[in-house]
Amino acid sequence: MSPSPLITRTVPALRRAVDNLRKRKATVALVPTMGALHDGHVSLVRLAKRRGSRVVVSIFVNPTQFAPSEDFGAYPRTWTADIAKLAAEGVDIVWHPGVEAMYPEGFATRIVPEGPALAGLEDRFRPHFFGGVATVVGKLFTQCRPDVAIFGEKDFQQLRVVTQLARDLDLGVKVIGSRTVRERDGLAMSSRNVYLSPEERQTATVLYRAMKDSAGRIRAGEAIRPAMARGAETIAAAGFALDYFEVRNAKTLAPVTSRNDGPLRILVAARLGTTRLIDNVAV
Ligand code: PAF
Repeated sequence: MSPSPLITRTVPALRRAVDNLRKRKATVALVPTMGALHDGHVSLVRLAKRRGSRVVVSIFVNPTQFAPSEDFGAYPRTWTADIAKLAAEGVDIVWHPGVEAMYPEGFATRIVPEGPALAGLEDRFRPHFFGGVATVVGKLFTQCRPDVAIFGEKDFQQLRVVTQLARDLDLGVKVIGSRTVRERDGLAMSSRNVYLSPEERQTATVLYRAMKDSAGRIRAGEAIRPAMARGAETIAAAGFALDYFEVRNAKTLAPVTSRNDGPLRILVAARLGTTRLIDNVAV
């Protein structure tokens, strides 16, 4: 059995633990999470182990990236199971600050990201989101000072935002994206999938199928507009309320009109009942 990771709850304790690793010449890989860990997170940890000699996983449900109307209170919290999974993967340190350690009394500084954070995708529907993410990720990077940090491609716009953040603020962290892990039927793994009723869980697979279908049509030479319209119709017909179903340049997230504007990425966000799902695929 692997030993349990060292659990740190204050910035000085985290710094001491990371400094000890560094004294032993470790390269440190950070995996930022909000807990409720599933196999997608496990794959991030495994990639972290390949990219660093020591792995830190942060578990912090970040209140500043949730709007008051969103699910901060209900967000799944599965601490005991999370630690068991991280121990099994041989994670070295878990960084688990309370809200008061992350945002102490009098906290008054926020990061306001632009560029990919204003691409007109998630930011159109969750205008508070990337400010909260950039602020907490900026703090996680300066608290832990990792060499590399691993983020899932499922949150594709977030991956672009934190990559830009690390570069613009000279944080000295290399941000690495990790491929989306899917259930056997194609649904992208997400901590929020537990909100789906059994019926909704079946319907949810339509998202991936619609993206794959539109991507295949574009690759086969169909014009972008009809190929995407067809995917959007399929998703709406399955009972989703669609926020967006768009094809963008995968590097800049800029809108595209032809296959030559690539590399292309299809991104989707849609609500099924009270659950909002996001996903994306390469074209
Ligand atoms: O993707 C997530 O789980 C969160 O947005 C992150 C990056 C841990 C910041 O709270």
